[in-house]
Amino acid sequence: MNAIIGQPVSRVDGPAKVTGHATYAAEFDLPGLVHAAMVVAPIPRGHIRSVDTAAAERAPGVLAILTHENAPRLPYHQIPQRPQVDAQSGEQLHVLQDAEVRFNGQPVAVAVAETLEQAVHAAELVRIDYARTPALTIFDPARGRPPSEGNVKAGRVPELGRGEAEAALAAAPVRVEARYTHPREHHNAIEPHVTIAHWEGEHLTLYDKTQWVDNDRKEIAHVFGIPEERIRVVSPFVGGAFGSALRTWPHVTLAAMAAQRVGRPVRLELTRRQLYTSIGFRPHSEQHVALGATKDGRLSALKHEVIQQVGRYEEYAETVLSPTSHLYSCPNLLARYRLVEMDTNSPCPMRAPGVVTGVLGLEMAMDELAVELNIDPLELRLRNYAETDEQKGLPWSSKELRACYATAAERFGWSRRRPEPRSMREGDQLVGYGMATAIYHSDRSAATASVALTGNGGAVVRSASSDMGPGTYTSMTQVAAETLGLPLEQVRFELGDTNLPYAPVHGGSVTMASLGNAIVAACGAAQKKLADLARAAQQGPFSGLPSEAVAFHGGGLARADGSGSVVPYAELLRQHNLGWLEAEGSAQPGEETKKYSSAAFGAVFVEVRVDEALGTVRVPRIIGAYDVGRVINPKTARSQCIGGMVGGLGMALEERADWDARFGRVMNANLAEYLVPVNADIGVTEAIFVPNDDRNFNPLGVKGLAEVAICGVAPAIANAVWHATGRRIRQLPITPDVLL
Ligand code: MOS
Repeated sequence: MNAIIGQPVSRVDGPAKVTGHATYAAEFDLPGLVHAAMVVAPIPRGHIRSVDTAAAERAPGVLAILTHENAPRLPYHQIPQRPQVDAQSGEQLHVLQDAEVRFNGQPVAVAVAETLEQAVHAAELVRIDYARTPALTIFDPARGRPPSEGNVKAGRVPELGRGEAEAALAAAPVRVEARYTHPREHHNAIEPHVTIAHWEGEHLTLYDKTQWVDNDRKEIAHVFGIPEERIRVVSPFVGGAFGSALRTWPHVTLAAMAAQRVGRPVRLELTRRQLYTSIGFRPHSEQHVALGATKDGRLSALKHEVIQQVGRYEEYAETVLSPTSHLYSCPNLLARYRLVEMDTNSPCPMRAPGVVTGVLGLEMAMDELAVELNIDPLELRLRNYAETDEQKGLPWSSKELRACYATAAERFGWSRRRPEPRSMREGDQLVGYGMATAIYHSDRSAATASVALTGNGGAVVRSASSDMGPGTYTSMTQVAAETLGLPLEQVRFELGDTNLPYAPVHGGSVTMASLGNAIVAACGAAQKKLADLARAAQQGPFSGLPSEAVAFHGGGLARADGSGSVVPYAELLRQHNLGWLEAEGSAQPGEETKKYSSAAFGAVFVEVRVDEALGTVRVPRIIGAYDVGRVINPKTARSQCIGGMVGGLGMALEERADWDARFGRVMNANLAEYLVPVNADIGVTEAIFVPNDDRNFNPLGVKGLAEVAICGVAPAIANAVWHATGRRIRQLPITPDVLL
């Protein structure tokens, strides 16, 4: 049988995307479609004293101007058991429900008009008089302790640890202690967030950019107080998201509200500037790491304290401490998480949320400890290798991190590194080698899929998942084709619609481990249904056989003992006068989550070239080796990893929201001034996958491949900059002005 899983298949949706046949949320062309434009508050905190919409209402093409004075009052029911991607306490922003301004950029009015230009023009004509009140707009981690202060909250996991960290730290023969920060960062997907809302009577259809159609539906149903069954969310293509489309943002409510008011389908697309306030961001963080070790480099104490910014109206918290809790073997550990409330919009998951932050602090501190001990940074990691998850007290479902270190180090040529800083040079460039470990916890969620075997010999597989870029369409098609024994071209996978079977969030690296196994189950269910029909038939080759006497091979049914021929699916359907046959299957995590701890691992090695005269850092090489369990598609997997490397390089050297505390706003809220890596910034990026197949974690053997790829890149670069220059830059991004 041809293996399809494990093959570097090109994207099945590629041709549709490059020929413009893939319909993104903004592109659904509904009859009578009109446009909306938002007016946003220019102050960080206060209230609206008065609104004057007279001029806007008189403008050409205007259908409605919605403000808090005339918008419908919505029930905003609370969602019981909010999904992890949502804030766990507080309330999401209630739009146009009162005169309060909670952050700069908050939507305060919406203009609806026949054309986009008319809507934008009308929005500019809305006159609002604001009363400003004092706002907290400076991220001041000093306010993060003690927790008795008014604006400080303990995070969702305020503290975790084991042993006696403080005492062990005080007693440690060797100690390092340092503070690391990264600024507020933004997703900057190329496709803006956009919603088309269309009411037909009591039924609402949303064409939306989202990583989770089912959650989108649930949230809007609760906001409007209507049954979920009356809402359909359609989202077949997503043009990049990085976590920004996990949650349902207020503009979705505004689009639905506006469509209801004007009785026409309404499109509301955020402007590039609005993407810096109307969706979330990676929160500004400061972390303090203290490591204690024996002289031979064994960790005896680990203390990690993290403080992040959060908005006031709801609490978004991240799992920053998860890597610290189990990446290294250490008997004494204390990890603490605090939030500083600010008058800003709410942060949200972005590219390995939390974990990338925690790994940054931990892996930079490990490098500092290696220097202090005069031990090679890679050797230090090996000496503290965690054979088990010491926080959970569980064995790993699998862990090939040693192989990652060895493979990547060999490929990179780590042995050529001279330990002293400033000891390697090429021309007028200082050369630095740096490395870091990557880890991202592996999760699974319940998922359902349907498989329809069709009369033409193919199959249609469906689930309400999403493909924001990693290749869900392709990899799920591979899983189904291999399970059914059909050629790839005979299988079509459909996603992105609440009418399809339930899928979990397309985020947190859970998609393949969750949905992939559901697809395997659904394929099995369809096969069983067909085999049952064949066995129950009055005649035919399988008539009257017990179930164990038949088996599927190469796209059809055969006798399990190998005698007789394979009868293809299509032939079996014909014999039973069926045009098609459909079955559902589902998969969910089980007992294994109590028996094992699961994570994807990686080792990242980078080379930097620093020009001391200019302060520039170039990164000619990033080599990563990863243990992500089984790899379904090495081509899309590689793309994921080099994408993560590019994101990590951005975090290390370029990305920063420049913050104007006077107005509580991002000054560089555009792609010209918010720097992200471009082709000229990227050299060799190489991703190697070490062999693994984690059946302890799930039947498919995958661990989840996405977030792990960005983790470790930024600290590896910062560590390489130290090696090149002898300067430890603990504040990201490392821009030329910092190095000069
Ligand atoms: Mo990812 S930040 O889980 O979309």
